[in-house]
Amino acid sequence: MDTKELIFGRHSVRNFLPDPVPQEILDDILEAGRLAPSAQNKQPWRYLVFQGNDSIQKLVQNCGLVGLSIFFIRKAPCVIIACADTKANLKMNGQDYYLVDTAISFHQMMLMARSHGIGSCWLAAFSEKKLRSYLKIPDTWRVVAMSPFGYPAEKKSTYTKLVSSFAGSDSRKPIAEIVLYR
Ligand SMILES: Cc1cc2nc3c(=O)[nH]c(=O)nc-3n(C[C@H](O)[C@H](O)[C@H](O)COP(=O)(O)O)c2cc1C
Repeated sequence: MDTKELIFGRHSVRNFLPDPVPQEILDDILEAGRLAPSAQNKQPWRYLVFQGNDSIQKLVQNCGLVGLSIFFIRKAPCVIIACADTKANLKMNGQDYYLVDTAISFHQMMLMARSHGIGSCWLAAFSEKKLRSYLKIPDTWRVVAMSPFGYPAEKKSTYTKLVSSFAGSDSRKPIAEIVLYR
């Protein structure tokens, strides 16, 4: 798959086949995250990998009330939680860059996944407080996002069709609205 197809053809995947993500592909995905650029090379990202029914079901039950909206991850063979260690932060112009760094790294993982035919979906609809107490992560870590990873199912559930239509997922602002040539 060339880069144009990799990026232009990407979309969020919320329905999965039960087949596991092969370990060598998972290794590639995690390596893509590890090699990401970061402000002053701080590499604040930390990843928690969940595989198998039991561990994913338990995770779903610990995402809080808002997490009910992402219950579709229960059918994914793999879920990765992207955390960031705020101790590994670069502050510049009053901005904390650990979120930017972690987003770049996590998105690299998603693009690598797609190059192997594995779908994913950025998710922020969870209670960080609830998750934090379940995951027992260090106090300096933030839970930035999570994503299911797996081979896309051809048939989308009515619920996931509704979610992407609610978000207007197919539409993007025109270039003229987001780019200013100076
Ligand atoms: C930071 C972030 C958080 C998101 N959180 C959720 C979420 O909680 N639930 C969900 O179904 N989709 C979530 N999405 C996916 C967006 O809805 C989706 O990327 C957007 O509608 C564009 O659709 P596309 O990814 O299919 O192009 C999130 C995306 C991003 C980047």
